[in-house]
Amino acid sequence: MEDTATLRIGSQNYNFPVFMGTEQEIAVDLRHLREVTGVITLDEGYANTGSCLSEITFIDGEAGVLRHRGYPIEDLAAQSHFLETAHLIMYGQLPAKAVLDRFTSRVNRSALLNEGMQPLFAGFPSQAHPMGMLAALVQALGAYSPELATNDRKLDLARFDEAAILLMGTIRTLAALVSRRRRGLPMVYPNPELGYAENFLHMLFSLPNDPYEPHPEVAKALDLIFLLHADHEQNCSTSTVRMVASGGANPFACVSAGISALWGPLHGGANMAVIQMLQEIHDSGDNGHLFIDAVKAGSGRLMGFGHRVYKNYDPRATIMKATCERVLRLLGHSDPLLNIASRLEEEALRDEYFVSRKLYPNVDFYSGIILRAIGIPLDLFTVIFAIGRTPGWLANWREVAMSSKGRIYRPRQIYIGPVQREYMPLGDKSRA
Ligand code: ACO
Repeated sequence: MEDTATLRIGSQNYNFPVFMGTEQEIAVDLRHLREVTGVITLDEGYANTGSCLSEITFIDGEAGVLRHRGYPIEDLAAQSHFLETAHLIMYGQLPAKAVLDRFTSRVNRSALLNEGMQPLFAGFPSQAHPMGMLAALVQALGAYSPELATNDRKLDLARFDEAAILLMGTIRTLAALVSRRRRGLPMVYPNPELGYAENFLHMLFSLPNDPYEPHPEVAKALDLIFLLHADHEQNCSTSTVRMVASGGANPFACVSAGISALWGPLHGGANMAVIQMLQEIHDSGDNGHLFIDAVKAGSGRLMGFGHRVYKNYDPRATIMKATCERVLRLLGHSDPLLNIASRLEEEALRDEYFVSRKLYPNVDFYSGIILRAIGIPLDLFTVIFAIGRTPGWLANWREVAMSSKGRIYRPRQIYIGPVQREYMPLGDKSRA
């Protein structure tokens, strides 16, 4: 294959290098395009833009492949657990036992919240959305650890391990307390003897004289949900993290920005939107058929379907569906929403509208049903996604911070507004 690509603009030919990744993905390297030709690329939504070089995650959307640091998601889901996968994603290697034990113990010990932060929870109105509160509280966590959030790149990088452990350990506590605040429940202290997911469930559900002891399979399913969300290449929230990091901001500010970006229903908010959609279908007495017709007629979307990158299947959705069926069987739950979801999936996979647009269930189509079965409140679903995605955001922050050639992210635009106009004084009749 040629190692240059030729671009013809007007009567002039320009050659640009062709870059190939380790998985044979090919890109035309246009980093010097404007400098050389005076023109820019236009790629709204960035669907054709490689915004960075990264060693963290590889996705082949056509083949349904997802690998973290080279390890297939199917192997990690079957043999690893969330903290081990988090370590792998952040540092690039599967940790040796002693390293993993130390990492796990440090994360578990950092679940306890700085006492100074406790009054902050009472400051939010009880109906505030958990994602808004979480984004604010992660910024506050940085404010209460100023030595880890200096915006001095060298210092923040040197203290990355500590910041990452604090964020991973505390985000669960913040999430549980945010939910308790909304439910009017007093706080519960973390128990460092418990596993990562178990401790979260304890902080979320235990009552003063009634400790919550989850079924081991339930804790395992939640751990798997965290693992399946741990990183996903240059999605909306991760790109946001990299964008903010490129300006030199500290990890707490960047993770908080990632949480805000994740909130929307087209991204992390989809897991909540799926359940709301399934509930509406159920309440209306429809078996899903009328809803599919309405989507095809242009009124709304089938939430939990479609993906910018996966155009065949989302490997996380396959794992999630199998786990969903196992957990429901184990808990003896028969959720009517699961039946509606299965019918919607079956119908959509046969329907020309969805097939021609390559729309398949994504990871969030089934995760909400598991979370419902575990008893997680609906308004906390996207927060669960945020807990899972934290190592991915941190790994991307670290990659940006470590890059010696890194430049501030600053895309250009093509302006299509009015051309230069003359200022009209206040009172001028031609003002709108
Ligand atoms: N239901 C119905 N039609 C859809 C859906 C859907 N879920 N998703 C895309 N389409 C249609 C669009 O209407 C469009 O049709 P058209 O060509 O006739 O105009 C076509 O498919 C392409 O859609 P785009 O919006 O251009 O696709 P894009 O790659 O930009 O969007 C996205 C991807 C946001 C995930 C989209 O599929 C969607 O809105 N899905 C539902 C929300 C969701 O589940 N989000 C979670 C994503 S995964 C994650 O963040 C964890």
